[in-house]
Amino acid sequence: MAQSVTEWVNINNHISIIARNTGQVWLHTVDGKGKADPFAGPMTGHGTTGSTIGLLDGAINLAFAGIEQRLACPEPTLVGYVVALAGAYHTSVDTPRNLRRAAARFSELGRPEVAAYLEERALEESGHDRLALKDLRALGVPAERLVANFIPEGIRPLCKRFDDLCAEDYPIGCIGYSYCLERIAALKQQDDIDRVKAMCPEGIDATRFLRSHSSLGSEASHVEETIEFVASLPPDDRIKVVRETYESALLLADGYNYELHKSDAELLEDMERAMGESLPYGLGSSPPVNLKSGARPAA
Ligand SMILES: [Fe+2]
Ligand SMILES: [Fe+2]
Repeated sequence: MAQSVTEWVNINNHISIIARNTGQVWLHTVDGKGKADPFAGPMTGHGTTGSTIGLLDGAINLAFAGIEQRLACPEPTLVGYVVALAGAYHTSVDTPRNLRRAAARFSELGRPEVAAYLEERALEESGHDRLALKDLRALGVPAERLVANFIPEGIRPLCKRFDDLCAEDYPIGCIGYSYCLERIAALKQQDDIDRVKAMCPEGIDATRFLRSHSSLGSEASHVEETIEFVASLPPDDRIKVVRETYESALLLADGYNYELHKSDAELLEDMERAMGESLPYGLGSSPPVNLKSGARPAA
């Protein structure tokens, strides 16, 4: 019989996530007094993929649980989708450069296996910003001018977080950040893509980024590879990755919510003010789509 492995990470001094290789996951409250607590100190054993999934997804769930009551769920609209694509561009444009910076640091630190993993990820993520630009162009939006002048407010802290993590002296947290974004993207299904397609004018394909960052694209395999890699890391690294997954999920939940609470009129005003020109734009040879009159689609 396979040996049972238990991993745990203290997230914020009060709560620890405990996960077994069998798939069990639970939260543990740290009270700091009374009888001996076997989970009070940091874990020191080896990792397994089963327990690593539990810790990483447990961290995301814990972060989202705090905001669940306040999560906005507006009807998707084309304007909302354009804003989401602008956000998708900003969260992907610097990813390869940032990952290579972190990889170079791990090479200096004598950790060639981490450097190699990050180099590979940098390669896999290259060009994803261009998918978002193509989608924006397909919708008739002047993509380059939009992204040069406009970054969704809720996305800004996420981009800064990733820049900062990759520039740290010990940049292992960037793996937690990437896991968080990819895991959430991988939840998107064919239905989500169909819903966006239905919002777009006939014959317009504006779902390149969405397809690639969904269960149908490369994200599912990126998530699996990351879980395996994290499970192979020493315990101190696994703890740092899980904690960063939690912190990134908090930022992500907050950021999503920020834009989702805005009306189409407010989102349009944000973009137009930033660009110094007005929307809407026609969509190529199709009848022009008036972004101002659309009911709400999402990336
Ligand atoms: Fe990507
Ligand atoms: Fe990815």
